[in-house]
Amino acid sequence: MNKFFLNLGKQPLANNYSRFYKKNQNKYNLKLFFNTKNKMVSISKRIPSEKMFTNNYPYRSSMSKTMKTSFYELSIEIKKRFKPKSILEIGSNDGILVTNFNKKDVIGIEPCNNLAKITSKKGYLTYNKYWNYELAKNLKKKHGEINLIYSANTLTHISNLNDVFKSISFLLTQKGILIIEDPSLLECIKKVSYDQFYNEHIYLFSAISVSNLIKKFNLEIFDIKNLKTHGGSIRYYIKKVENRDIKISNKVKKQIENEKKFGLHKLVTYKQFAKKVKLSKKNLLNILKKIKSKNKSIIGYGATAKAVTILNYCNINKSLIKNFVDTTPEKINKFMPGKNIKIIKYTQNSLLKYDYAFLGAWNFKKEIFKKEKKLIKKKLRFITHVPWPRIIRK
Ligand code: TYD
Repeated sequence: MNKFFLNLGKQPLANNYSRFYKKNQNKYNLKLFFNTKNKMVSISKRIPSEKMFTNNYPYRSSMSKTMKTSFYELSIEIKKRFKPKSILEIGSNDGILVTNFNKKDVIGIEPCNNLAKITSKKGYLTYNKYWNYELAKNLKKKHGEINLIYSANTLTHISNLNDVFKSISFLLTQKGILIIEDPSLLECIKKVSYDQFYNEHIYLFSAISVSNLIKKFNLEIFDIKNLKTHGGSIRYYIKKVENRDIKISNKVKKQIENEKKFGLHKLVTYKQFAKKVKLSKKNLLNILKKIKSKNKSIIGYGATAKAVTILNYCNINKSLIKNFVDTTPEKINKFMPGKNIKIIKYTQNSLLKYDYAFLGAWNFKKEIFKKEKKLIKKKLRFITHVPWPRIIRK
């Protein structure tokens, strides 16, 4: 049932930024599969969570204004629309959402100790644990059932989705609400943004696959919101099937129809996507090489996990992209996983000596362009691979 459609080569752990460039770093096959029965897209190689989500995990949600605003707006919506007495967030990261609520109303779950500590120190109850049935049982004993469970960009990182949804359904009140948001498969396919795939992203959800998956646990989607975050995400609003108080919005049917119109339920769509990805690689390399042949310099902007997939799949090293800039303290002075490219601290001055910047964080293009207006006026040009490789001329 799982049909292979794309090989993104050997990839290092995406968020494993290290102080030294290790030529023989562990790499894992990154192959993509489409399940013809439940329509789920996933990667084949499953790396144990403990290897990826360590106690010095570098990804911090609060590093971007766009994300802060998105989570703040969601907190307002949750309070107004659902008025939950208790809220639980799975994968609370550095507290970007939970800190918008009253301390007594919210519980965070965060397996990376360095991140869990940030919210604990602020007085927010945070369990430094992985999400699973065992934990759900303990939480129910201690805190009772929960009114609203939320999770962003986390559930797709967990291999055993049956356990994930069984545990959620178990802990949620009968009238409880589950909200999850993750990158949209439809947007990924449309934008040829194959960098959405890396070893942490075990699944890429669509409305079709999510509704197939949650059915088994007596859950259904009742509303959907398309978001601009992470290059195009979907927020799924989910309830228990037996809760008839909430009407199912037309948006759910529309999203599924849209996905079907685009062929997300058919293998052939993914085979075509694979062809586009190969072409994207070729064209990106041509652009970078042409720039270098004119003795111009290129820096990477945003040392994202997504960029790690691109660098390793396209075999881009220091001779093409000299450095990356990033604002995240945990990434500075470290190397892009699998590559000899060093990440330097972001300052506008650090960009001055470069002619081109490859957008590793293309999903924040708007925010970045606003910030770099002056440099763009001077001479800096951006390169992106989304939706097709090109130099962005302003
Ligand atoms: P994101 O796109 O969320 O990453 P991932 O692919 O790893 O999930 O991360 C954005 C990265 O870009 C993060 O390391 C912070 C960095 N960044 C900057 O350095 N400057 C900026 O202006 C922005 C918006 C992001």
